[in-house]
Amino acid sequence: MNNLFILFIIISVVQIVYSVNSISINQQIYINNNNNNNNNKHIDIGEEIKYIIESELFDFILIKELEKKVFACPCQDESLCQVLQTPPREEIVGFILDNDMDFYQQYVNWQNLTSVIVPLSNSTNPEIICLAHQHKVRVHHMVDWPGSWDLVTQNEWLRQNLYLVKQFNADGLNLDFEMPLHSNETELLNIFVQRISKLLHKMNPYIQLSYDVDLEPPGNLDVQTVGLELDFWFIMAYDCSWNSNPLGPNSPLPAVVDGLQYYLQFLHVNPWQLVLGLPWYGYYGQCVQTESIFNSTCETPTYKYPMSYSYINIYQILQTDQNSGELWNNQSMTPYVNYQVGGSIYQVQYDNPISIFYKVQYAKSQHIRGVGVWRLDFLDQSPNNSTINSMYDSLSSFLHKD
Ligand SMILES: *[C@@H]1O[C@H](CO)[C@@H](O)[C@H](O)[C@H]1NC(C)=O
Ligand SMILES: *[C@@H]1O[C@H](CO)[C@@H](O)[C@H](O)[C@H]1NC(C)=O
Ligand SMILES: *[C@@H]1O[C@H](CO)[C@@H](O)[C@H](O)[C@H]1NC(C)=O
Ligand SMILES: *[C@@H]1O[C@H](CO)[C@@H](O)[C@H](O)[C@H]1NC(C)=O
Ligand SMILES: *[C@@H]1O[C@H](CO)[C@@H](O)[C@H](O)[C@H]1NC(C)=O
Ligand SMILES: *[C@@H]1O[C@H](CO)[C@@H](O)[C@H](O)[C@H]1NC(C)=O
Ligand SMILES: *[C@@H]1O[C@H](CO)[C@@H](O)[C@H](O)[C@H]1NC(C)=O
Repeated sequence: MNNLFILFIIISVVQIVYSVNSISINQQIYINNNNNNNNNKHIDIGEEIKYIIESELFDFILIKELEKKVFACPCQDESLCQVLQTPPREEIVGFILDNDMDFYQQYVNWQNLTSVIVPLSNSTNPEIICLAHQHKVRVHHMVDWPGSWDLVTQNEWLRQNLYLVKQFNADGLNLDFEMPLHSNETELLNIFVQRISKLLHKMNPYIQLSYDVDLEPPGNLDVQTVGLELDFWFIMAYDCSWNSNPLGPNSPLPAVVDGLQYYLQFLHVNPWQLVLGLPWYGYYGQCVQTESIFNSTCETPTYKYPMSYSYINIYQILQTDQNSGELWNNQSMTPYVNYQVGGSIYQVQYDNPISIFYKVQYAKSQHIRGVGVWRLDFLDQSPNNSTINSMYDSLSSFLHKD
């Protein structure tokens, strides 16, 4: 009854604002016809109020809907359905796009992780949450940019994704918004992230929020304001030689150092809000100037997306007869390998436990929140546990005391 009354009040306010706003819109037409922009401020305020009221109303109803919605707990132990309340801690984060329960059971080294980031959907097996929570590992739901600044689109996006957070008892939301950001959109993004954060924390104050950014953040991203809403930024310290010719390292140590320093020294981001994301994959291309399998210049095919291999594919290449063996680039501090297929030589530039270890140690020396990896399922179908363990060990060396 009480809620209905509040709803009634809000609807009345919305109606009043609508009528005010339609006056503004009429004025705008009038103003534009007279080529006079002096009164535009008035219009913007009208739009802003309309946005605030409409979004507040939507969010109010959404929270009520979510509170009422009850989802069955898929775990044998019901307590595993609770959102984790583990206090903020150092992080070892891994993305997983695989949806196969076998992968979660056999190839994920839960003891060495603190959070996994998974795009949840209706087809996700809900038992992955039980497995993660058993190991006190948080599950973040990974979401793409809604695709538009339009309020209706963003409302629908919020409803869908917050339902998924609730349905799976997820511990966080990961914003993988890799869209271009114009200067006129900076403030809109701030408002949208603030809105997401407010809703999540109303659902449950322990739910975390993380945001994926490049080594070089987009110039129009207001890192300070957005950062206030986040538990951490996941810095994607890879794709550094995207479309470069010749083929170059995916995650060269000097670029990673510069990138991290940019966040720390120039943007003054709190180190506790940074997780350094590292690649478990590499890019390959065909070698054009081939002197021998040990010394080749190789190019990224620019006619399409650069082609990549998961670490386990690369591991398999290293097991074949016709390859150079692992070669080391001592500038980027990363390995690469040349290998022959038919009459042609190819090269793959990648990261292995050693190159990952160097970057993890650097991250540790800067006292940031943690390290992470894109993607844990790049070890799917590993032939044995020693390959898997060496990759996890290089990551979790972040946690070792000196
Ligand atoms: C990583 O997991 C292994 C068991 O798989 C465990 O022995 C080791 O202590 C873990 N490392 C960390 C840093 O938690
Ligand atoms: C997921 O399932 C729920 C009901 O179980 C449904 O309302 C919702 O639309 C579904 N979402 C998608 C994206 O299919
Ligand atoms: C911001 O400006 C760009 C370029 O002028 C335009 O394409 C975009 O639609 C604008 N965004 C909004 C939300 O108005
Ligand atoms: C590799 O090839 C380049 C160019 O063909 C040549 O300048 C260089 O000396 C070679 N390096 C080695 C180690 O053979
Ligand atoms: C890198 O390797 C080159 C050639 O093998 C060598 O001349 C150079 O000293 C090495 N640099 C470092 C920092 O080890
Ligand atoms: C792991 O598998 C690879 C490829 O099958 C093999 O070369 C390697 O010896 C195995 N390692 C162990 C410890 O079994
Ligand atoms: C790795 O070891 C665990 C037990 O420690 C086992 O359950 C799992 O099947 C093994 N995975 C592989 C790929 O061998």
